[in-house]
Amino acid sequence: MQLAALQKCIEPSCGLEYPISDIRIECDRGHLLDIKYNEIPNISLKETFYKRRNHANNIFNESGVWRFRELLNFCQIDTENISQCSEYLVSLDGAEGRSSKPYHMSKVSNHVGLQNLWLQPEGYNPSGSFKDNGMSTAVTHAKFVNIKKIICASTGNTSASAAMYAANENMECDVYIPSGEIAPGKLSQAFQFGAQVVEIKGNFDDAFSASLKKAREVGGYTVNSVNPFRIEGQKTIVFRALEHLEWNAPDWIVYPGGALGNTSSCGKSLMELYEWGWIKKIPRIAVVNSEGANTLYTLYNGKFEEKKLRWNKGKPDTELIRKYYSYMDKTGIRPKTKATAIQIAKPANILKGLRALEFTNGIVTQVSDQEMLDGMALVGLNGFDCEMASGAVPAGVKKLVTDEIIKKDDVVVGILTGRQKDASIPVDYHKNEKNTFANPPMS
Ligand code: F0G
Repeated sequence: MQLAALQKCIEPSCGLEYPISDIRIECDRGHLLDIKYNEIPNISLKETFYKRRNHANNIFNESGVWRFRELLNFCQIDTENISQCSEYLVSLDGAEGRSSKPYHMSKVSNHVGLQNLWLQPEGYNPSGSFKDNGMSTAVTHAKFVNIKKIICASTGNTSASAAMYAANENMECDVYIPSGEIAPGKLSQAFQFGAQVVEIKGNFDDAFSASLKKAREVGGYTVNSVNPFRIEGQKTIVFRALEHLEWNAPDWIVYPGGALGNTSSCGKSLMELYEWGWIKKIPRIAVVNSEGANTLYTLYNGKFEEKKLRWNKGKPDTELIRKYYSYMDKTGIRPKTKATAIQIAKPANILKGLRALEFTNGIVTQVSDQEMLDGMALVGLNGFDCEMASGAVPAGVKKLVTDEIIKKDDVVVGILTGRQKDASIPVDYHKNEKNTFANPPMS
């Protein structure tokens, strides 16, 4: 039987291909991989996806990930006749993506000066972040290839999600975390879900290197966003946003930028939908870096050696990236932001991220810790909970509206990536009357 899906190197001049059953995060020449399908899905599926919202207690229709299963069918399951207990599909009782869709948050809209701003709280996933979208698909692949133990490095949300699915699937899970640099609520989830926590002295980039080394030594299965099956699940964040807008593409989709898995999955979903004719317009991606962890911002905007790093139709200047990383190492520049979720200096998906930015004519901006805190607080005043890294989205949108890059009548979708898992951050914010949206306690 001819495989309808395969893994393919993202670099056009390389293009190495591997079967879906291969366990790898890069091609033999060290480049990232995509999942490729050789069928064009029928556009009538839009109706099928919508109908599945009336899920009749089938968890794979209830799930906001598997509801779109035809668009990520790498396991080649029979998508129509799916029972409650599919052999491979991994779901936490249909909860991933179930309750995340774009909302109009009037106080944020008024503050940033936009009528058509939609914010999608991905923190309302079962483990409290957008990671569940991609983790359900990565763990599905792990199950498909008969893996019993998964491994990841994390600033806290990936590890919470990986540990949760591993526990639910009776798999083991090792999580490498930067010691002292993750929110207490995230660390507690890893312990609570029975993962083996490995504390690494250093930052996320150090923990990531250590986890990859370990995975190489023991043939471990990595579930970080360099795993192409993670990216497949995260495409559904975009599908849900577009479905809500009746598949009329917005002008902008805005994300905080860390390892750039989200940026990559957004780009892949838009490339596929546009190629299939499911959307007529390509939204522009805006990535918002923290000022203290701004590698993409620096390289994309020509702030290092005055060269603007681009995907360049598959011929990116990887030497520039290498030079910047060694400059950071030599000069002791370490990522530093209170938004620890995105305290990352070497975004592992940078090339896929650049590809997404090129396809969508995207841009990269940066915001301060104070701006992220204000963004987070403002979302809270609409009755929605998000963590500081997600506050980068309203903060970045405000900056781009002020700079007249986002126009007043543009339709904008912002992804609020995670829920608050460090209670001290909003408490400290509100106790300090100097903060713009603070509501200090009375005594
Ligand atoms: N927002 C939150 C809440 C995150 O946890 C992360 C990444 C990001 C944004 C950045 O997303 O990596 O796709 O660009 N957290 C990872 C983790 C690194 O380990 O939990 P990205």
